[in-house]
Amino acid sequence: MGKKWLDIVYNEKSSIKLKQHYKFWADDYDRDLVDWGYAYPSQLKKVMSQDIKVKKDSKILDAGCGTGLVAQVLSDMNFKNIVGLDYSIDMLKIAKNKKIYKRLIHESLNKKTSLRSNQFDIVLCTGVLTSGHVGAKAINELIRVTKNKGYLILSIAESIFEKLGFKDEIEKNKKQISKIKISKPFIALPNHKSSATSKMYLFQRV
Ligand SMILES: C[S@@+](CC[C@H](N)C(=O)[O-])C[C@H]1O[C@@H](n2cnc3c(N)ncnc32)[C@H](O)[C@@H]1O
Repeated sequence: MGKKWLDIVYNEKSSIKLKQHYKFWADDYDRDLVDWGYAYPSQLKKVMSQDIKVKKDSKILDAGCGTGLVAQVLSDMNFKNIVGLDYSIDMLKIAKNKKIYKRLIHESLNKKTSLRSNQFDIVLCTGVLTSGHVGAKAINELIRVTKNKGYLILSIAESIFEKLGFKDEIEKNKKQISKIKISKPFIALPNHKSSATSKMYLFQRV
């Protein structure tokens, strides 16, 4: 299937159609992303090993977990208390087979989720806060479910950071989260011509 999916999913405006695209991409997603040199797994590893100190039994939410390609890094680092959430049942099916999640939840991040407030030590969200996927308002929801002193690890592409309201939403929530670190810009998919340049944002809930 190859290269076409990236352009399709990041240009899709309808959330319903996007879900269809992920249905058809799910089986090939991991292979394609690995071929394109997906940078988030190594970026996440860097954050987890250099920027924060957390216990191995930390409760982690992988918001928009997809197939679990990024959370595999956490599992390999011996984190086992991971909850995955995604609105695509087909992506969740692949994630389930990896046996890295304690629980998988089939829900959308574009509205308030059923998750209890103030419960996760870490909330991770990579490749999801972007055009056609999950809007800036979800930042508030991700903060809501993070414990006091817990961490949020978010990837956001430079091109949409201001344009789609992420900058403003972070600013609006600045009393609830403190900025710990923002990575240097990096190419999310170095082997793909349409790749975005992204940054990893690390916040702590205050
Ligand atoms: C590019 S994939 C990223 C998956 C994973 N986080 C990763 O980095 O490999 C985007 C994911 O966002 C999910 N997604 C898109 N819109 C969503 C929504 N409204 N609520 C929850 N998940 C959504 C898709 O189903 C897909 O699994």
